[in-house]
Amino acid sequence: MQFKLLAKDRGTQARRGTLSTPHGEIQTPIFMPVATHAAMKAMTPLQVRETGAQIILSNTYHLHLHPGEQLVQKAGGLHRFMAWDGPILTDSGGFQVFSLPNKRITEDGVFFRHEDTGEEIFLDPAKAMEIQMALGADIIMNFDECIPYPCDKGYAERSTAKTLRWAKQCKEAHTRKDQALFGIVQGSVFEDLRRHCAREMVKLDFPGYAIGGVSVGEGLELLKLVVGYTAPHLPEDKPRYLMGVGLPEDILESVERGIDMFDCVIPTRYARSATLFTNRGRIRLTNKNFRRDFYPIEPNCDCYTCRNFTRAYLHHLFGANEVLSAILASIHNVHFYLNMMSRIRQAIEEGRYAAFKNEFLAEYKRQDR
Ligand code: GUN
Ligand code: ZN
Repeated sequence: MQFKLLAKDRGTQARRGTLSTPHGEIQTPIFMPVATHAAMKAMTPLQVRETGAQIILSNTYHLHLHPGEQLVQKAGGLHRFMAWDGPILTDSGGFQVFSLPNKRITEDGVFFRHEDTGEEIFLDPAKAMEIQMALGADIIMNFDECIPYPCDKGYAERSTAKTLRWAKQCKEAHTRKDQALFGIVQGSVFEDLRRHCAREMVKLDFPGYAIGGVSVGEGLELLKLVVGYTAPHLPEDKPRYLMGVGLPEDILESVERGIDMFDCVIPTRYARSATLFTNRGRIRLTNKNFRRDFYPIEPNCDCYTCRNFTRAYLHHLFGANEVLSAILASIHNVHFYLNMMSRIRQAIEEGRYAAFKNEFLAEYKRQDR
């Protein structure tokens, strides 16, 4: 895997690059739609591709439980199994396991129970690498502990030390040369812990770095601070991935601080509950104002949904609880995110990122519906 920096913005830390993987090249900054169970909810791979998606994300934890990494490997790996021939990133399961109610965290890993069988499962760095190597994604992630927020500093210190120890173990256990293993920086909201974790992670020399432990309820102001005092300690010539972020405004602020990659369930999850993104903010399609609204969701959008259907039709589909409502809404929302990323890349190339961000947010914040 190779990362090339193509351009840097004037006046902000925003960067424009390309990341090459065995399944194709990714233009950064990029948003990765989420296919947790090796499926984008309510979208075929063809529809995902047509939104402009370049890389998608899937989850070690979920695929380990169902159908199991051995089966995926037998099927020819994750790409073949789900018929997505572009780049894939798998998350390590760290985040998903730590958000379970009945887990037991030790110095070595995490015990939890299978949601159906009740069988006890143990996930640790070696196992997380074994699973991700069997799945065969292009980019895989360290097994880490995502620290909850708020959190006292003592816990954050011990947890961050553990994540660093686990990072070394992941690196030793990972042997697939065709996969890039990314390190994940933790440290909660504490500047000294983030700096320490970033520097130690960089010493381990990963081909890319993620910032984890954000979007855990800390809010945009703290997110900006955490990214602002973590990113500068990461090497300029390696990709930087902000995990689980976020809303358009979160992404815009983080690109400004030097982030290259994002993932979040928001566009697809919101789509299924009738919340659609437009250049003028979000709209709720179930609102009765849309009953006779014969305009597209976003007049300036060239997605399949906006080219063919009206708000009135989508309002009707949601009212009738038709499966097509989720499909059409997901196509638009994912397209909206990827189109925003494309505009972000163009603005960086033109050296006018700050102006672009301000214009985008000025229109977007005019939530007049
Ligand atoms: N997804 C969102 N946040 C995190 C994190 O801190 N760690 C991992 N592994 N995945 C995440
Ligand atoms: Zn659209």
